[in-house]
Amino acid sequence: MPLRVEPSGGACGARVTGLDLSKPLDAETVAAVRAAWLQHHVLAFPDQAMTDDDLERFTCYFGGFGDDPFFAPIPGRQHIAAIRREADEQSPLFAENWHADWSFQARPPAGTCLLAIDIPPHGGDTLFANQHLAWESLTTDQQSRYADLIAIHSARLPYAPDGTYGAKDKGRSMDIRPSEAALATQIHPLVPAHPETGRRGFYSTLGYIVGIEGMAQDAAITLLMELQAWQGDERFVFAQKWEPGMLVMWDNRSVLHRATGGYEGYRRELHRTTIAAWNGV
Ligand code: SIN
Repeated sequence: MPLRVEPSGGACGARVTGLDLSKPLDAETVAAVRAAWLQHHVLAFPDQAMTDDDLERFTCYFGGFGDDPFFAPIPGRQHIAAIRREADEQSPLFAENWHADWSFQARPPAGTCLLAIDIPPHGGDTLFANQHLAWESLTTDQQSRYADLIAIHSARLPYAPDGTYGAKDKGRSMDIRPSEAALATQIHPLVPAHPETGRRGFYSTLGYIVGIEGMAQDAAITLLMELQAWQGDERFVFAQKWEPGMLVMWDNRSVLHRATGGYEGYRRELHRTTIAAWNGV
């Protein structure tokens, strides 16, 4: 069956059919998937029957594995983490704030893959916000406020020992490993050009971004809060609904993402890999 890419009709996202990801892909097919990924930023592959080996092989087609701190991998694997929530879990939802994965790294992951393992019958959508659209929808005057800013990133708010997922976080089924290493900072342009397409967009957001170079902290946080409201405006957002057997891959250089709830009483688990940086952010 030929590869078919159906755009979601929303701010980003497409559904890709005609591929069996439990089998190796040839170079031409990988190039076609990469082109669709760069165009739509979020690709969903329904009705797959992938093992963890298949997930690793698929990830490697797009640049190898990223470096994943603060999570323990699942047993027997170095590069797969479980995004998991038990049916009776009471801890706050994981990853409910907008973010771009590991943007606090010097070479953050270009993309992320999530494979459905256990999907609740309703709820648990992953939301994606298209950051090229968020940038392009500003007036030139508004853009000039942000265009040359350098953002300071850090993992300290979620992953430091006193952070959201630190010592005070109890009863979580995910194997998160907070560390002092989360206190480190890293700078990136706030509005980089995408390294493969050249299209500009906001990169990451308040949370992993903790300040702006050369700006007083109060002013930076005010600006970042206003910007975050804009970045997550509903006109830029696409809700990915999960199905059993679905694989979703996204481009962290183009979209923000966040988890949602609405599946109380049901278990949810996805296996996650990150795709290494491609020539910088
Ligand atoms: C994540 O941000 O990695 C998790 C997204 C989700 O659980 O939907």
